[in-house]
Amino acid sequence: MKALVLAGGTGSRLRPITLSAAKQLIPVANKPVLFYALESLVAAGVTDIGMIVGDTADEIRAAVGDGGDFGARVTYIHQERPLGLAHAVLVARPWLGEEDFVMYLGDNFLFGRLDGHLERFRADRPAAGLLLTRVDNPGAFGVARVDPGGRVLRLEEKPRRPESDLALVGVYLFTPEIHEAARAIRPAGSGELEITDAIQWLIDRGRRVDSTVISGYWKDTGTLDDLLEVNRSVLEGVRPRVEGEVDDDSEIVGRVRIDPGARVVRSRVVGPVVIGPGSTISDSYVGPFTSIAEGCRLEDAEIEFSIVLAGAGIRGVGRVEKSLIGKEARVERAENPPKAHRLLLGDHSRVRIAP
Ligand code: DAU
Repeated sequence: MKALVLAGGTGSRLRPITLSAAKQLIPVANKPVLFYALESLVAAGVTDIGMIVGDTADEIRAAVGDGGDFGARVTYIHQERPLGLAHAVLVARPWLGEEDFVMYLGDNFLFGRLDGHLERFRADRPAAGLLLTRVDNPGAFGVARVDPGGRVLRLEEKPRRPESDLALVGVYLFTPEIHEAARAIRPAGSGELEITDAIQWLIDRGRRVDSTVISGYWKDTGTLDDLLEVNRSVLEGVRPRVEGEVDDDSEIVGRVRIDPGARVVRSRVVGPVVIGPGSTISDSYVGPFTSIAEGCRLEDAEIEFSIVLAGAGIRGVGRVEKSLIGKEARVERAENPPKAHRLLLGDHSRVRIAP
């Protein structure tokens, strides 16, 4: 079985971060979301991986390479434009050949192993096997109606009036029958070739589409809130380890990982927290559910429930929370009058200033 991992697309809901970076490479507990997907596939024995890439191809290639670090062999497949998930399958058709495959959306985060799902699919071999999960906002996803045995009766992409609360998780199992379906469908109102429409095409022709409702943790990391939430839950499992330096005037509480070359000076760090290599935290408070990447500098700052990307600096700023601070970004207190807010923000930035 092969895997098709989708790492193209635009990531419009995470602008401006995604104007300069691939959304699949935003780190969760200091590791790109995409890496968790690759690790999970390899753990399930799927090592022949086709990676759909678009505008951010260079960056994804630089991060993943030939897949050797993951124990996989990665082949890059270029998708000219993000024309939909079924379009990605069409583009990958020559590479996929006549093999069954698992399609994994590169911005999806799934706790738990895939082996069981793959085994069941291999044994039953329906035309497609879907993973579903119950959500409060089904209208934001593909939505399935299933019979009591789990057979899928109907699928709709982001319906205005969802028929159930069962959302499609971004991990799909396919036999080569999906290729005929992907060729047959037309673009939806969104302009995209939707994979939900391709699967519905199979259902309409009497092909069997099975589903499993997963109860484990799953999130699409497409929005800031979802990303922070995934970061929170991954940090909860972090193994505490101090490999950097912590001075005597600092206090470290709970699950905290401090990587080599990081320094904590006159500060309080309350886990779960990870602090990346070479970062310096001085006269600061770092609160629960915060990931600080490598080479960051926090001085006289307070932050919690946030993700800080590589090389960012925060100085003289009181409580920052629920934030995503981009690479090399600076957040600083105005030292001299006038005490005005001075901003240099990228397109689509969002700032909330406390009064
Ligand atoms: O997260 C689960 C949901 O994923 C499902 O419930 C929906 O049925 C499914 O359509 C999909 O919806 P999204 O709106 O979240 O898809 P998104 O556009 O975010 O794309 C998912 C991933 O695939 C993302 O990593 C970008 C990549 N992608 C997307 C498109 C449209 C590509 O590589 N090429 C594409 O053409």
